[in-house]
Amino acid sequence: MTFKLNDEQLMIQSMVREFSRKVVAATAMERDRTKAFPVENLEQMGELGLLGMMVPLEYDGSAADTVSYVLALSEIAYSCASTAVVMSVHNSIVCESLLRIGSEEQKKKYLKPLARGDYIGAFALTEPHAGSDPVSQTTTAVRDGDHYILTGTKRFITSGKNAGLVIVTAKTDESQRHKGISAFLVEKGTPGFIVGHLEDKMGLCASDTTDLIFEECRIPVANILGSEGDGFKISMTALDGGRIGIAAQSLGVAQAAFDASVKYAKNREQFGQKISKFQGLRWILADMATEIEAARQLMLSAAAMKDRGEDYTLQASMAKLFASEMVNRVTAKALQIHGGYGFTKDYPVERYYRDARVFTIYEGTSEIQRVVISNHILRDKRRLRSGTAR
Ligand code: CAA
Repeated sequence: MTFKLNDEQLMIQSMVREFSRKVVAATAMERDRTKAFPVENLEQMGELGLLGMMVPLEYDGSAADTVSYVLALSEIAYSCASTAVVMSVHNSIVCESLLRIGSEEQKKKYLKPLARGDYIGAFALTEPHAGSDPVSQTTTAVRDGDHYILTGTKRFITSGKNAGLVIVTAKTDESQRHKGISAFLVEKGTPGFIVGHLEDKMGLCASDTTDLIFEECRIPVANILGSEGDGFKISMTALDGGRIGIAAQSLGVAQAAFDASVKYAKNREQFGQKISKFQGLRWILADMATEIEAARQLMLSAAAMKDRGEDYTLQASMAKLFASEMVNRVTAKALQIHGGYGFTKDYPVERYYRDARVFTIYEGTSEIQRVVISNHILRDKRRLRSGTAR
């Protein structure tokens, strides 16, 4: 059954589509080249309510549902995947975690300005030696009176350089496994919080990805998110939402690559006719459209489950896995359809191809999604670490 959008969802989709294709698209190619952070896009997105989409009105958000959010995110990704990933981490992970777990004081102090788009949020879980396995992280937070002293290095942090607030995880009890991990709200400019190496990436060039270094960085006790030991669950829950967001980004980029391919095929002539007349090419377009539609339905169904308050971990992983692999197939086909022109920077498909590559990697690799999915199917809840079946 095709997912039926309500009037509000359709209205948000159409408003963001217009904004994205007029404003965001205008500078996307140039930003990819110059690696300029999309400040102007984000300012306007804040004004449009796109930076606190699922945050209630009382915290200065837009009170939209998850379905509307993923539709909006797809529309932004259609024009600029770099802008979309900033929007995704900010909304799905940072705002959502604060809304779910934050104290009233933390919501007033941090969620409100985040939702207004006064500054951007980032999420620091990954470390140089702890990617797919975040439990093995080594950043520590040691209690010292009214503060925690944070020491360690985080890696591959989206918006690490440009964020005003970062949710940072650290071990508060090294003798515990995931239950020894806590989450902290760390403001930009806190002494001992240093932005390290800026990654030089293949795609998403206008979004910064950095190391964050904490050198005896003192965090007020009031800035712990939840309680000591809650950090891993906060991260996993946040990533469930984040993964629907990556499906949305994948969908947006895939749709852009598909639309560009249809346009090109209808105009390009070879052997005396438009290449869209060749059956070989028509079948490629048919496969692309079918895969995109399948990803859309998975994304929307995971988002709707979240909106209904159901357990959607499985559907989020399925949506993320399928959509992120789909966009890599679709962008590769789009580039092939464009032939030699697709390999040049005169056409946007080479950017789509590069941008899409990380979607099967961040917020949980395809392999991790398969672990989550198979654990749910088999229901034996087998832990990854040997000898720790539960
Ligand atoms: N929701 C709530 N709780 C969850 C959960 C979920 N989705 N998944 C696991 N948990 C809980 C479990 O119930 C368990 O709790 P109890 O002990 O109380 O029962 C606890 O967490 C530990 O679970 P596991 O034993 O299953 O954990 P694990 O160490 O074996 O690993 C994993 C599970 C799924 C592999 C997880 O480690 C994982 O998702 N890894 C990938 C990490 C990842 O996605 N990193 C991306 C970095 S962020 C990023 O990319 C953002 C960006 O900037 C773009």
